[in-house]
Amino acid sequence: MNNNWWKHAVFYHIYPKSFQDSDGDGTGDIRGIINRLDYLAALSIDAVWLSPVYRSPMVDGGYDISDYRDIDPLFGTLDDFRELLKRAHDRGIRIMMDLVMNHTSDQHPWFTESRSLVDNPKRNWYIWHAGCNGKVPNNWRTNFFERAWRRDPITGQFYYHSFFKEQPDLNWRNEDMKQAFFENIRFWLDMGVDGFRLDVVNMIVKDKLLRNNYPSKIYNRNQPETYDILREFRKLLDEYPCTTSVGEIYVLPPGSPKLAASFLGSGNDMLHMAFDFSLIFCRWNARKYYSAVQSYYDALPPAGWACFAFSNHDMGRSLNRFGQMRHTHEKARLLAVMLLTLKGTPFIYYGDELGMVNARIPRKQIRDRYGKMIWPVFMGRDRGRTPMQWNDSAGAGFTLGEPWLPLHKDFRKVNVECETADENSVWNTYRKMIELRKTLPALQQGEIEFIETGRNGILAYTRTLNDQQIRIALNFNSRKQKFSYFPRNCKILFSTSRKIVDNKDNMLLPFEAVVFTEQDV
Ligand code: NOJ
Repeated sequence: MNNNWWKHAVFYHIYPKSFQDSDGDGTGDIRGIINRLDYLAALSIDAVWLSPVYRSPMVDGGYDISDYRDIDPLFGTLDDFRELLKRAHDRGIRIMMDLVMNHTSDQHPWFTESRSLVDNPKRNWYIWHAGCNGKVPNNWRTNFFERAWRRDPITGQFYYHSFFKEQPDLNWRNEDMKQAFFENIRFWLDMGVDGFRLDVVNMIVKDKLLRNNYPSKIYNRNQPETYDILREFRKLLDEYPCTTSVGEIYVLPPGSPKLAASFLGSGNDMLHMAFDFSLIFCRWNARKYYSAVQSYYDALPPAGWACFAFSNHDMGRSLNRFGQMRHTHEKARLLAVMLLTLKGTPFIYYGDELGMVNARIPRKQIRDRYGKMIWPVFMGRDRGRTPMQWNDSAGAGFTLGEPWLPLHKDFRKVNVECETADENSVWNTYRKMIELRKTLPALQQGEIEFIETGRNGILAYTRTLNDQQIRIALNFNSRKQKFSYFPRNCKILFSTSRKIVDNKDNMLLPFEAVVFTEQDV
């Protein structure tokens, strides 16, 4: 058994409502994912991060959980989930669940009890306050910019919620709650899940004194006690060999590599991996990418390991962050090569392997409550959650019914069927690069050293393991660019633009991403 499999794995992030519908209700489900396991195997991914499928009133797309030990009927049943686990494992694909520790749904029985009486034994499982002269206890705001305290009519006291009011925050200072929560985690580990992605894990503990957040949010997140809880969490996980974890470390732009890395502890005693959002916030700029990546490496503890993602279900699709929507095909292919050659575990957001982009969702069809709340300032997160594009049929192969969100209008061209048949598609770039990563240990485990750090729009680096050395060059420019590092007997292992290097030329082609070596590999 390889306890470090996650360091060498390629993860694939599925937003379950949007991946594959199996029963025609227009919403993706677990059986749909089962039916697409062969697709995931063909792409050669090793593990899936599944956004929440637990029982939920779906106020926040499933991130409001009312039963941590059951599957929401929208997605199927516990038996479906067990089958998914088994069938995925049969194909060598591991399943990582989402874990929302910060809050539950207000429909969770714990909250029903907690809110019932001031002296209910579960009262302190959540964060309650009598208020100050009838007013809210402090000036904390939710992540959706509303007041974060809600007066509950039953007892007249206030409870705290970092997100929607239907998502009361748990009190991680309460030992009984913590133990009960850990039992929920055990439930899935006993079933055989391979790990967890921890939702906004840097927010789970709040200042004991509930001091006002002013001017920045320093008291309702990043509290030192969080690290102790994560150490306990890790001990629990370590009872189950070959499990792993990745934390969402929620920060505002430009990201915070140091903060993200701090949740790895020594590298062996807290989270296995932590998302630093710096890369997600990057514009199309080789220098910026270099400094985001290098700052993260610099921040890692000696035994720490990086992970990278360019898109997710909250931040939308990477291709939309680069200004005008030009050269998206080329940019998508370059990003694929970068993601799959950096030192660290890559996470691919479903559909990114096709070059999917954000959709414009008409106001009436917006489903994300956050989007509805502040439209048109922000159109919400639905834009990057549109259904997976499998083929050019009416429901894009995603559903036979009416999709829960409109399909992106480009689905007749940007879809799995077209792209698997096209040698130069974004899909084939991902597939070939994943294969290459698998066959070359240096790309999985090798040290990284930068040879070009963004000068003239070029990023270039080597990955070295023992005798194996692989080089990568990425040209962020829409024009040719001089590049003097092609060795004499240069062998191209992959290029988005050509098959051989003309040594006399020493140029990178527009938007070229090339993987090469002078060795026999
Ligand atoms: C982060 C999740 O990724 C997001 O979708 C959700 O709204 C919040 N956490 C609250 O759970």
